Amino acid sequence: MKIVGDIQFATPCPGPRSSVQISERTGRRSKRICGTPLYLPCFHRRVFSHINARFHREQTAVRSKGNTARPAMDVKCRRLEGKVAVVTASTQGIGLAIAERLGLEGAAVVISSRKQKNVDEAVEGLRAKGITVVGAVCHVSNAEQRKHLIDTAVKNFGHIDIVVSNAAANPSVDSILEMKESVLDKLWDINVKASILLLQDAAPHLRKGSSVILISSIAGYNPDAALTMYGVTKTALFGLTKALATEMGPNTRVNCIAPGFVPTRFAGFLTTNETIRNELIERSILKRLGSVEDMASAAAFLASDDSSFITAETIVVAGGTQSRL
Ligand SMILES: NC(=O)c1ccc[n+]([C@@H]2O[C@H](COP(=O)([O-])OP(=O)(O)OC[C@H]3O[C@@H](n4cnc5c(N)ncnc54)[C@H](OP(=O)(O)O)[C@@H]3O)[C@@H](O)[C@H]2O)c1
Repeated sequence: MKIVGDIQFATPCPGPRSSVQISERTGRRSKRICGTPLYLPCFHRRVFSHINARFHREQTAVRSKGNTARPAMDVKCRRLEGKVAVVTASTQGIGLAIAERLGLEGAAVVISSRKQKNVDEAVEGLRAKGITVVGAVCHVSNAEQRKHLIDTAVKNFGHIDIVVSNAAANPSVDSILEMKESVLDKLWDINVKASILLLQDAAPHLRKGSSVILISSIAGYNPDAALTMYGVTKTALFGLTKALATEMGPNTRVNCIAPGFVPTRFAGFLTTNETIRNELIERSILKRLGSVEDMASAAAFLASDDSSFITAETIVVAGGTQSRL
C-alpha cells in the first residue's frame, strides 16, 4: 500500500484527517484514519455528534409534516389477502414502508412504536391509503407492551400470519472495547433479545403457513467503524434466523432481510454527510442508496406464498454491496 493523497471531511467539523491509499496489487482505493483502516471515515465521536445534531434538526422539520407525506406506493398484486401482519418499529422509515406494502397487498396490519403520537399519525396515514390497520404503543424491550401488541392483533383479527421484527438501536459510536456495559446491554436487548421475546408471545397465535421476518443489516456482514457492536448484533440475527427456522418449521418460515444503507432517520448520521453518502453509494454495484420501498418489496415477497419454499435465509437488499462473513 502507498499513501497517495490526503482528504478533509466535507462537513466543517474538527474531525481527524484521513488519507487515501491505493493498493499496488489490486489498484483499489481505501481510506485510513489515524492509522486505522476503515470503510467509513466517520467514526470520530465529535464528527458523529456534529452530523447527528444537524440531522435531528432536519428530522424535526420532516416530522412536523407528519408520516403521511410520502405518496402511496404503486402496488399491483394482492398476495396477502386474509393475512394478519404485526410489524414492530413501524411508524416511520423501513417499518412504516413494510406495513404499507403488506397492507396494500391485502393484509390487515398492526403497527407499533414507542410513541402514541407517532402511532396515531401512522395509523391515520395508512387508513387514508385504504389499509386495514390498528396501532399499539410498543417499546420492544418492554414485556407488557410486547404482550399488548400481540393481544391487539389477536383481539382485532383473531390470529397472526406475519411478524416483522424491525426495531433496532445504535446508541453509540464507541469502539467495542470502550463501550459501556449499559450500552452493550441495550444493543443486545433491543436488537436481538426483543425479537426472541416477541416471537415467544406471538408463537401460540401463528397460523400454519405463517412467515417471520427479522430485519438485520448489511452491517451484520461489515461492522464498520461507526457501527461496530450494532453490526455484531445484526450478525447475531443471521444465526437467530437459522435457529428459529428450524424450531418453528414446518408451519412457520423464518427469514431475514439485510438492508443496505437507506436514508432514514436511523441512518441519517451517515447518509446526510456528503462524503460518507458518496462512499456508501460507491460501494454498491447499482450506485445508489436503498429506498424504504426496496426493503418493503423484499418483505412482501418473504411474507407471501411466493416464497413458500424459502426459510432460514437472509436476503441482502443492498444493490450488490459486498456481503460475506
Ligand atoms: N436505514 C438504514 O440504512 C438501515 C440499514 C440496515 C438496517 N436497518 C434496520 O432497519 C430497521 C429500521 O430502521 P429505519 O432506518 O427504518 O429507522 P427509522 O426510520 O429511524 O425508524 C425507526 C422506527 O422505529 C421506532 N422505534 C425506535 N426505537 C424503538 C423501540 N425501542 N421499540 C419500538 N419502536 C422503536 C420509531 O418510532 P418511535 O420513535 O415512535 O419509537 C420509528 O418508527 C432497523 O432494524 C435498522 O437496524 C436500517
